[in-house]
Formats: sequence, structure tokens, C-alpha cells
Amino acid sequence: MSEPQLAGQTVVVIGGSAGIGLETARRARAEGAEVILTGRDPDRLERSAREVGAVSSAAFDATDLDRLERFFDDLPQPLDHLMVSGSGPYYAPLLEMDFAEVRADVDRHLLLQLRVGQLAAGRVRPGGSLLFIGGTGGRRAASASR
Ligand SMILES: NC(=O)c1ccc[n+]([C@@H]2O[C@H](COP(=O)([O-])OP(=O)(O)OC[C@H]3O[C@@H](n4cnc5c(N)ncnc54)[C@H](OP(=O)(O)O)[C@@H]3O)[C@@H](O)[C@H]2O)c1
Repeated sequence: MSEPQLAGQTVVVIGGSAGIGLETARRARAEGAEVILTGRDPDRLERSAREVGAVSSAAFDATDLDRLERFFDDLPQPLDHLMVSGSGPYYAPLLEMDFAEVRADVDRHLLLQLRVGQLAAGRVRPGGSLLFIGGTGGRRAASASR
């Protein structure tokens, strides 16, 4: 039996009520970390938080940057590792792009991560990490084919 690698550490998963974020939270708990989860759907978040034995959870849309700041203000300190998961990318050929969707995608996949970086400054212990999940939307663009 090896020693738990995250004993005494705190791991925050924004978008941790399902999928890759939830599995990351499970693994962090298995390694002895205290975990804190967020997601938008409060019922699913509560079920997931109970399942992994999260120390706390908060249901909110992480692209609401004022709410995100309040979440950080309420976090215990210091933190060790923070992961941002969330929804997948918006795909559309250039000529068919819906700009409301494009703006929402920039909120989800650029502004959220920049703001998390700002809010995490000074709150993460040396040796800790910020992990921003990428996606297939970062691969080579396809032609608009028109
Ligand atoms: N699955 C893959 O094979 C794969 C591969 C490469 C990259 N990715 C990327 O990895 C990310 C996660 O994928 P996944 O498959 O784990 O997705 P998932 O199963 O849909 O899980 C997404 C999680 O993020 C939460 N979430 C979504 N939008 C949010 C928001 N605005 N604020 C707060 N929480 C939010 C969801 O809960 P609520 O809906 O309740 O908010 C859920 O807990 C995506 O960006 C995806 O593009 C996935």
C-alpha cells in the first residue's frame, strides 16, 4: 500500500459534478485530499458531492464572474490544486456562426480561465497547480466549405 499523495491538501474542481471533473474529484479523494466541487445543477452537484465525500460544494454558473469571485472569497485557505472543467466547445462553420453562442464560448473557455487565474493568485500553496481543461475545439480549424 502506497501513502496517499494528496493528504492534507485541498482540491477545488469547478465543473466537478460530472464527467472528467467528477472523476478527478474521486481520484483526489482516494489520494486523501479534501475536495470542493461546483456545478450549475444543484441536485446533481449535491449527489456528486455526497458520493465523493466533498467537504463543501457550491451551485452556480462559473461564467458569472461576480459569483465566481464570491465563491473564491468563501473558500478555505490555502488551496493546493484547482481544476476548471465545464461544457464542451461551440462548433459552427464561420459563415453560420451564431455570435451569441460565440460570446458564450469565449466566456466559458477564455474569460473564466483568465479570471480564475487572477482570483487564485496568492491563494494556492507553493507546489500547487491550476489545471484548465482543453478540448477538441483547440485543434486545427476546418474550412468553412462555402
Ligand atoms: N469527454 C471527453 O472525451 C473530452 C475530451 C476532451 C476535452 N473535453 C472537455 O472537457 C470538458 C469536460 O468534459 P466532460 O465530458 O467531463 O463534460 P460533462 O460530463 O458535461 O461535465 C461537465 C461538468 O461541468 C459542469 N459545468 C458545465 N458548465 C458549467 C458552468 N458554466 N459553470 C459551472 N459548472 C459547469 C457540469 O455541471 P452542470 O451542467 O450542472 O453545470 C459538469 O459538472 C469539456 O470542456 C470538454 O470539451 C472532454
